[in-house]
Amino acid sequence: MTALLNNIVEVRENIQKWKSDKKTIAIVPTMGALHLGHISLIKKAKEIADKVVVSVFVNPIQFGPNEDYDKYPRTIEHDKSVCEENGVDIVFAPAPKEMYGENTVLSNTDLTFVCPPYNIVDCLCGKTRPSHFDGVATVVLKLFNIIQPDYACFGQKDAQQLFVIKKMVKDLNLNIQIIPCPIVREQDGLALSSRNTYLSSEERKNALTISMALKEIKKLYSNGINDTKILFDTAVSVLDKNLEIDYIEFRDFSTFKKAEKAEKNTLVAIAAKSGNTRLIDNEIL
Ligand code: PAJ
Repeated sequence: MTALLNNIVEVRENIQKWKSDKKTIAIVPTMGALHLGHISLIKKAKEIADKVVVSVFVNPIQFGPNEDYDKYPRTIEHDKSVCEENGVDIVFAPAPKEMYGENTVLSNTDLTFVCPPYNIVDCLCGKTRPSHFDGVATVVLKLFNIIQPDYACFGQKDAQQLFVIKKMVKDLNLNIQIIPCPIVREQDGLALSSRNTYLSSEERKNALTISMALKEIKKLYSNGINDTKILFDTAVSVLDKNLEIDYIEFRDFSTFKKAEKAEKNTLVAIAAKSGNTRLIDNEIL
């Protein structure tokens, strides 16, 4: 049986009991609208821990003023049954008030924030979404403090987010093992995302060229081409002209510094808008 809990005190009672029974705990933090990408994280969590908590929380503090916070899909009944089918112990789905109290201004004038280092967030998604990663790191630390997990599963789909969380865990000495999980794709290659539901069929067709561009880069790289200029130009030529490219970036995935040459462990990351929908995808070479 999966328990759907909205309240921190109730969740903590369960956690206390598990801890006294010496059970290990894994958390899968999500914003809901669960799809096979999320399910792959849940399956991994089930494999490694005795108890699994999935959080479903559309976190207001990680959305910018003109982003899709209001429009973001909220499908808690569906999410609960997905969790039930996959043997999740608790779905933690708090209301914003439960997480942020009576504060009406959800900014660092009223709240304590976790601010990841500038060098990691002043690029890629952090460049177009200023303070997004402050909101992500803050909510994830709050979830870690509530659930006190041994493990936390994150998708490589959000590679910069994964890097930010690993860095927070290291810098703040959190006793939690971060488990990175591979990107789950549709059969044709499109990376699964809760935002794919926004796409018209034309926009989806165009969006598919993001994964095609990454595939092409991977192919050239395995044929010995490591000049990022050539690889960048290849991506531009594969990406559909109707996409609004935000970035095509090459980063060393162990330092997050710009990669001069593509090599093993280089993150190739693309963000682009198809219609009004901003999509991200990446490959680690
Ligand atoms: P959300 O977008 O719901 O994603 C939750 C987790 O699922 C993230 O770790 C993400 O990388 C992973 N995920 C999404 N699509 C995936 C795919 N196609 N393959 C594999 N994993 C995938 O990321 C967030 O929520 C939020 O920022 C959160 C961490 C919950 C903080 O609010």
